[in-house]
Amino acid sequence: MNWPMIPPAPDTPPCGPPAPVDGGWVVTRHADVVAVLTDPRYVVPVAPGGPPGTLAWLRGTVSRFSAPDRHPGRRALGVAALRDLDPDELRDAAARGTTRTLDRLAAAGRVEVMGRLARRVPLEVLAARLGLADPAAAVPAVTAVAAAYHPGADPAAVALADRAVAALLAMSPPAPAEAAANRIGLLVQAADATAGLIGAAVRHGLAAPAALGTADLLAEVLRLDPPVRATRRVATGATRLAGREIGPDAALLLRFDAANRDPAVHPDPDRFHPGGPDQADHAGVVRDGHLALARRSVPALTFGAGPRGCPGERHALALATGVVEVLRARCRPARTPVRYAPHPTLRVPTSLEVTFR
Ligand code: HEM
Repeated sequence: MNWPMIPPAPDTPPCGPPAPVDGGWVVTRHADVVAVLTDPRYVVPVAPGGPPGTLAWLRGTVSRFSAPDRHPGRRALGVAALRDLDPDELRDAAARGTTRTLDRLAAAGRVEVMGRLARRVPLEVLAARLGLADPAAAVPAVTAVAAAYHPGADPAAVALADRAVAALLAMSPPAPAEAAANRIGLLVQAADATAGLIGAAVRHGLAAPAALGTADLLAEVLRLDPPVRATRRVATGATRLAGREIGPDAALLLRFDAANRDPAVHPDPDRFHPGGPDQADHAGVVRDGHLALARRSVPALTFGAGPRGCPGERHALALATGVVEVLRARCRPARTPVRYAPHPTLRVPTSLEVTFR
């Protein structure tokens, strides 16, 4: 099989030793990113909190932005809610939702995937299973919160997000404040990243041979066009990373997009190659009627690692699989240009058209 090259997205730094940038450090090598994510001396920048029921309150109460002493208990609340969700059922529900939408839009001959499916179906499925009273109304509310969730959002977006947090709380099942916040946190964490993964899979994989399994397609897309491009940490004291002195309070930007192309762990790093080039002898061999593809031995870092790594990985993959499998069966690329919303760490297409087969 002649797999294509997927060049890095604009502004992806090259892979190399930790580099000083703007008074902080940019970390780009796979081993260095893992070292930071698994070293408790590097912490997540904490969100300060605010009046109950506001965006600031949500950010101050979810595990994602919690200090190390509060993090495990709050993370456990989200993990407990996720434990009740069966990934296979999520996949099937996402596939049904996608089929219904495509049936409704078939007469138009084309579909805008991001707004109609990628930003809608996974959230609606998740919101229903997490017990929100009006899953369809939860979708725009979660989207508004996600738009203001990371530091630096503009005041108009924050005002919209404040109202959306209140709406989400009103439609949430009764629960103590911390549990309610972390349930909403699951939806907000899921929103942009899952939509971005579906967008990337459609962009790079809609024309791939049907024998390529969707799980392998998603794994390679997560590596080469990650919807979450980076995350942040702060050093709590003086540390050393790959021979560099990192001062106390130094900010670190961990670049998943660069680390996922680290030639030390991914030979031929820019090639879209499900299964990995180390498995080249096996890739493309048809066994029992199926294209035999072994998984890469080193997965992408796009779901993070260590105690803060994504607890929703299996759920995200299940939801994306449900949407992408239906699209692969029924649609083909429209060959219109793909544009991306500007964001410091996320990469999510703003619109992405496909046509029916
Ligand atoms: C393709 C989709 C997704 C990607 C790429 C992704 C990626 C990530 C990453 C990289 C982190 C860690 C950030 C850090 O360490 O600084 C994270 C955290 C988190 N993710 Fe995901 N995520 C995805 C989907 C989801 C979904 C579907 C859910 C929930 C159902 C979810 C729930 C969470 C939560 C709750 C956290 C915070 C964990 C904590 O506080 O310890 N994510 N995600």
